[in-house]
Amino acid sequence: MAKILVLHGPNLNMLGTREPEIYGKTTLAQINDRLCRLAENLESEVETFQSNSEGELIDIIQKKGTAIDGLIVNLGAYTHYSIALRDAIAGFAKPTVEVHLSNIYAREPFRHTSVTAPVCRGMISGLGWRGYLLALEALVGFLQEGEEIS
Ligand code: DQA
Repeated sequence: MAKILVLHGPNLNMLGTREPEIYGKTTLAQINDRLCRLAENLESEVETFQSNSEGELIDIIQKKGTAIDGLIVNLGAYTHYSIALRDAIAGFAKPTVEVHLSNIYAREPFRHTSVTAPVCRGMISGLGWRGYLLALEALVGFLQEGEEIS
Protein backbone atom coordinates (compact mmCIF):
# COMPACT_ATOMS: atom_id res chain seq x y z
CA MET A 1 0.00 0.00 0.00
CA ALA A 2 1.48 3.36 -1.06
CA LYS A 3 2.14 5.73 1.84
CA ILE A 4 2.06 9.40 0.93
CA LEU A 5 3.04 12.35 3.10
CA VAL A 6 1.35 15.68 2.30
CA LEU A 7 3.25 18.76 3.50
CA HIS A 8 1.62 22.16 3.77
CA GLY A 9 3.93 25.12 4.30
CA PRO A 10 3.58 28.58 5.82
CA ASN A 11 0.21 30.35 6.05
CA LEU A 12 -1.68 27.41 4.57
CA ASN A 13 -3.19 26.81 8.02
CA MET A 14 -5.17 30.02 7.32
CA LEU A 15 -6.91 28.68 4.21
CA GLY A 16 -10.61 29.50 4.17
CA THR A 17 -10.10 33.02 5.50
CA ARG A 18 -6.74 33.95 3.90
CA GLU A 19 -7.23 35.90 0.64
CA PRO A 20 -10.18 33.68 -0.41
CA GLU A 21 -10.35 35.42 -3.80
CA ILE A 22 -6.91 33.89 -4.54
CA TYR A 23 -6.86 30.66 -2.54
CA GLY A 24 -10.57 29.80 -2.30
CA LYS A 25 -12.82 29.23 0.69
CA THR A 26 -11.90 25.63 1.35
CA THR A 27 -10.10 25.13 4.66
CA LEU A 28 -6.98 23.06 5.17
CA ALA A 29 -8.98 20.58 7.28
CA GLN A 30 -11.40 20.09 4.36
CA ILE A 31 -8.53 19.54 1.91
CA ASN A 32 -6.93 17.00 4.25
CA ASP A 33 -10.25 15.24 4.70
CA ARG A 34 -10.78 15.01 0.92
CA LEU A 35 -7.25 13.65 0.50
CA CYS A 36 -7.82 10.97 3.16
CA ARG A 37 -11.10 9.89 1.57
CA LEU A 38 -9.51 9.66 -1.90
CA ALA A 39 -6.56 7.75 -0.43
CA GLU A 40 -8.98 5.13 0.91
CA ASN A 41 -10.54 4.71 -2.54
CA LEU A 42 -7.07 4.38 -4.07
CA GLU A 43 -6.06 1.82 -1.42
CA SER A 44 -3.29 4.06 -0.21
CA GLU A 45 -2.49 5.94 2.98
CA VAL A 46 -2.12 9.67 3.45
CA GLU A 47 -0.55 11.53 6.35
CA THR A 48 -0.75 15.32 6.45
CA PHE A 49 1.44 17.89 8.21
CA GLN A 50 1.45 21.70 8.24
CA SER A 51 4.16 23.98 9.54
CA ASN A 52 5.06 27.63 9.24
CA SER A 53 8.68 26.74 9.93
CA GLU A 54 11.22 25.82 7.23
CA GLY A 55 13.24 23.72 9.70
CA GLU A 56 10.22 21.68 10.79
CA LEU A 57 9.32 20.92 7.17
CA ILE A 58 12.88 19.73 6.52
CA ASP A 59 12.90 17.68 9.74
CA ILE A 60 9.75 15.79 8.79
CA ILE A 61 11.02 14.97 5.28
CA GLN A 62 14.21 13.57 6.84
CA LYS A 63 12.37 11.74 9.64
CA LYS A 64 9.62 10.15 7.51
CA GLY A 65 11.77 9.65 4.41
CA THR A 66 12.35 5.91 4.66
CA ALA A 67 8.80 5.12 5.84
CA ILE A 68 6.94 6.79 2.96
CA ASP A 69 6.74 6.22 -0.79
CA GLY A 70 5.96 9.68 -2.07
CA LEU A 71 5.46 13.30 -1.14
CA ILE A 72 2.96 16.01 -2.06
CA VAL A 73 4.18 19.48 -1.13
CA ASN A 74 2.78 22.96 -1.14
CA LEU A 75 5.61 24.89 0.46
CA GLY A 76 3.87 28.27 0.21
CA ALA A 77 6.33 31.15 -0.08
CA TYR A 78 9.32 28.83 0.63
CA THR A 79 8.72 27.51 -2.90
CA HIS A 80 10.27 30.66 -4.26
CA TYR A 81 13.52 30.75 -2.29
CA SER A 82 14.22 27.79 0.00
CA ILE A 83 17.29 26.00 -1.33
CA ALA A 84 17.27 24.05 1.97
CA LEU A 85 13.83 22.57 1.19
CA ARG A 86 14.89 21.89 -2.38
CA ASP A 87 17.88 19.93 -1.04
CA ALA A 88 15.64 18.00 1.38
CA ILE A 89 13.33 16.97 -1.48
CA ALA A 90 16.29 16.03 -3.70
CA GLY A 91 17.70 13.92 -0.84
CA PHE A 92 14.34 12.16 -0.36
CA ALA A 93 14.87 10.62 -3.80
CA LYS A 94 11.33 9.25 -4.21
CA PRO A 95 8.58 10.88 -6.29
CA THR A 96 7.37 14.31 -5.11
CA VAL A 97 4.57 16.35 -6.65
CA GLU A 98 4.44 20.10 -6.00
CA VAL A 99 1.01 21.71 -5.73
CA HIS A 100 -0.09 25.36 -5.72
CA LEU A 101 -3.67 26.42 -5.26
CA SER A 102 -3.16 29.58 -7.31
CA ASN A 103 -1.56 29.85 -10.75
CA ILE A 104 1.84 31.17 -9.66
CA TYR A 105 2.66 32.16 -13.27
CA ALA A 106 -0.33 34.52 -13.43
CA ARG A 107 0.74 36.39 -10.28
CA GLU A 108 3.59 38.68 -9.15
CA PRO A 109 6.93 38.04 -10.92
CA PHE A 110 8.58 36.88 -7.65
CA ARG A 111 6.15 33.92 -7.62
CA HIS A 112 7.05 32.81 -11.14
CA THR A 113 10.15 30.94 -9.98
CA SER A 114 9.90 27.72 -8.02
CA VAL A 115 13.31 26.58 -6.75
CA THR A 116 11.76 23.29 -5.62
CA ALA A 117 9.85 22.24 -8.77
CA PRO A 118 13.01 21.13 -10.67
CA VAL A 119 13.61 18.35 -8.11
CA CYS A 120 9.96 17.24 -8.19
CA ARG A 121 8.40 14.71 -10.53
CA GLY A 122 5.82 17.28 -11.57
CA MET A 123 3.94 20.38 -10.54
CA ILE A 124 0.26 21.40 -10.53
CA SER A 125 -0.56 25.09 -10.21
CA GLY A 126 -3.82 27.01 -10.40
CA LEU A 127 -6.42 24.26 -9.95
CA GLY A 128 -7.29 25.11 -6.34
CA TRP A 129 -7.89 22.28 -3.84
CA ARG A 130 -8.49 19.86 -6.72
CA GLY A 131 -4.78 20.04 -7.49
CA TYR A 132 -4.01 18.04 -4.34
CA LEU A 133 -6.38 15.26 -5.36
CA LEU A 134 -4.92 15.12 -8.87
CA ALA A 135 -1.43 14.97 -7.36
CA LEU A 136 -2.43 12.05 -5.14
CA GLU A 137 -3.99 10.16 -8.03
CA ALA A 138 -0.87 10.65 -10.16
CA LEU A 139 1.52 9.67 -7.39
CA VAL A 140 -0.35 6.49 -6.47
CA GLY A 141 -0.52 5.64 -10.18
CA PHE A 142 3.26 6.00 -10.59
CA LEU A 143 3.87 3.87 -7.51
CA GLN A 144 1.42 1.15 -8.51
CA GLU A 145 2.97 1.01 -11.97
CA GLY A 146 6.19 -0.21 -10.49
CA GLU A 147 8.08 2.48 -8.68
CA GLU A 148 9.23 1.18 -5.35
CA ILE A 149 6.70 0.95 -2.50
CA SER A 150 8.13 0.48 1.00
C1 DQA B 1 0.93 29.16 -2.90
C2 DQA B 1 1.58 30.24 -3.78
C3 DQA B 1 2.71 30.92 -3.05
O1 DQA B 1 3.27 31.94 -3.87
C4 DQA B 1 2.21 31.57 -1.78
O2 DQA B 1 3.27 32.15 -1.06
C5 DQA B 1 1.44 30.62 -0.92
C6 DQA B 1 0.50 29.71 -1.56
C7 DQA B 1 -0.31 28.53 -3.57
O3 DQA B 1 -0.74 27.48 -3.11
O4 DQA B 1 -0.87 29.10 -4.51
O5 DQA B 1 1.51 30.66 0.30
O6 DQA B 1 1.88 28.11 -2.70
